Amino acid sequence: MMRPLLPVLMLLSPLALAATPAQQYSSSCASCHLPGIHGAPRVGDTAEWERRLRGGFRLLYRNTIEGIPNTAMLPLGGASLSETEVRAVVDYMIAASAPSAAALKEAARYDRLGISNRDFIRFDINHDGRLSRGELAGDPALSRDLARFDTDRSGNLDEREYLQAEAVLEKERAAVRVEDAVIDAAVRKALAGVRGIDFQYAGVEVRDGTVVLKGIVSHALLALQAGDAIKRISGIRRIDNRLVSGDQIGWD
Ligand code: HEC
Repeated sequence: MMRPLLPVLMLLSPLALAATPAQQYSSSCASCHLPGIHGAPRVGDTAEWERRLRGGFRLLYRNTIEGIPNTAMLPLGGASLSETEVRAVVDYMIAASAPSAAALKEAARYDRLGISNRDFIRFDINHDGRLSRGELAGDPALSRDLARFDTDRSGNLDEREYLQAEAVLEKERAAVRVEDAVIDAAVRKALAGVRGIDFQYAGVEVRDGTVVLKGIVSHALLALQAGDAIKRISGIRRIDNRLVSGDQIGWD
């Protein structure tokens, strides 16, 4: 006599009610990722997803869960999904963008290297899990000092050595006492060298050695480049990079 109840119970069970990753994508992510607006990678844009896969699957999951600073990508994409659900949605988005088997294999290889620092991944242009002097060319302070941080004498920096170098250089930078006005001038000068930053929309504030960057830049990458440009300036104790990308507010 219990039998007729079974289908009803199944309907009420959370499993039966749960939306599929495709449905969750449609309701929570597609508003940005289907048209590819606000700087979001468009689902179906194979080249763009292959580029983003370079840092491995884990980075994509983590960026989705934690959000991407200075962009419209909020933690969990702003949706009320669990981390497990959101990972499945990311898998769906990747599959729907049809990356090549080679790109997927490369991503898995990078995961196996166990690298997770976003800046390291950004600088690792040839994707070998190590930062060479050439890859660090945009950072004269670090590339000049490479030997000092290359503790295993391999000629380049692995992630551990890179993080150590960042920590040491940051400490040395903060140990120097420099007037706010001097820091302010140095920061403005460095930012003026970053192509694409418009001081009409982006501003600098320095107080007690803390530098706040705020305002709007036209592209999310510019916010990162602004941070790179100022991070070795002596006397800076802390950098609070609040620049947001203009594409976030529809400036494409
Ligand atoms: C309000 C717009 C918006 C919504 C909604 C949104 N995203 Fe995003 N997403 C972005 C933007 C913008 C980026 C690119 C940021 C950047 O790298 O500059 C991004 C990037 C990503 C990336 C690539 C991350 C990387 O490491 O390159 C993934 C994966 C992603 N989103 C997943 C999701 C998922 C899953 C959802 C829904 C649960 C979602 N997004 C909802 C705007 C959005």
